Amino acid sequence: MTHPESLHCDGKRLLDRLDRLGAVGRLEDGSCCRLAFTDADRQGRDLVVSWMQELGLEVRVDQVGNLFGLRRGREDLAPVMTGSHIDTVATGGQYDGSLGVLAGLEAVQVLNERGVVTRRPLAVAVFSNEEGVRFQPDMTGSLVYAGGMPVAQALALIGIDQSRFGAELERIGYAGPMAPGAIVPHAFVELHIEQGPILDQEGGALGAVADLQGISWQEVVLRGSANHAGTTPMRLRRDAAYGAARLICFVHDLAQELGGAQVGTVGSIRLQPNLINVIPREAVVTVDLRNTDEGLLRGAEARLESFLRELADQTGLELATRRLARFEPVRFDPGTVRVIEQAAAALGQPIRRMTSGAGQDAQMLARICPSAMIFVPSIGGISHNPQERTEPRHLQLGADVLLRTLLALSGDD
Ligand code: GLV
Ligand code: MN
Ligand code: MN
Repeated sequence: MTHPESLHCDGKRLLDRLDRLGAVGRLEDGSCCRLAFTDADRQGRDLVVSWMQELGLEVRVDQVGNLFGLRRGREDLAPVMTGSHIDTVATGGQYDGSLGVLAGLEAVQVLNERGVVTRRPLAVAVFSNEEGVRFQPDMTGSLVYAGGMPVAQALALIGIDQSRFGAELERIGYAGPMAPGAIVPHAFVELHIEQGPILDQEGGALGAVADLQGISWQEVVLRGSANHAGTTPMRLRRDAAYGAARLICFVHDLAQELGGAQVGTVGSIRLQPNLINVIPREAVVTVDLRNTDEGLLRGAEARLESFLRELADQTGLELATRRLARFEPVRFDPGTVRVIEQAAAALGQPIRRMTSGAGQDAQMLARICPSAMIFVPSIGGISHNPQERTEPRHLQLGADVLLRTLLALSGDD
């Protein structure tokens, strides 16, 4: 077969596809807004499917909308799978997720052009609702695919706009017939932007992702009573916004105090009735806690729980919590991490082991097959923001490392 050394991705073609997919759902401020199962998500999917078809891939869709482009191998074995997601947060950039999918297609195109048929089949996956902004939990598609949630439970999820996962999936025409998990990969490797500052600050090496931190998402509802802002004495108030403000400060201070890998975020707050001269009767707040260590993450959750009890006692507010997502830290397959490192070494490209701060589809695939990830630097560490950027040379290098890794995992090196 052709020597892997002579196979390189076309960085310009990859960037062109990233720009074209990035234009779907683009807002005036430059944000990519393709929340899961919206019309923009459908348009993005249609575009990716058209590219898969142009590349001669067999397209299959499963019951939760996960999409697969399959390429035959010389032998009828379990495929080597790559891919990621194309849904975005409402203020996303054009690289988060899309890079992993489009670099997979670029790798396929290079193999097609060079007439290379790999030993194992290849599969390029697009997983549903990775971001978890519209429907929680995040990474729903890959979670179901890996057997972590029944299909019926996913289809019944209710979104932040009160829509139903299954109904929206039907509406956009991506409720497929395939049973999730029907194709069990030989291995899974995902290329993604780092979405943090480490690689950029260290001078632009790539990352071989060896593990991924645990994620705890909760919703906290604080209920008080609405009343007149001018006439209600301070001592008689049950002000839900005040409780929310104390919770926000607590989450930030807790993460600072615990230090290490602990992070904590309140990313969403909704007040009712949200009017200038009315004391809010309700605040709905989300809490995102993450840590690489499960014990420390549990400790942070316990601290939050006791804070909420004290807050209710001190303010007279009624507090209720609801779990939105909970995933333990994941260690990726050391053998697959080494294959990635060897692929980078063969290209003369420095690569360092690292942790993923973000949730990823690969963490779910790790439940069913050896999995790992390749990171490319994010300029300034910015992501979930329209300013998200990666240098074109890093996109190309990441795609080249992906291509070599796919070949090696398929037994073609
Ligand atoms: C997904 O991007 C997450 O880590 O929240
Ligand atoms: Mn992502
Ligand atoms: Mn993301």
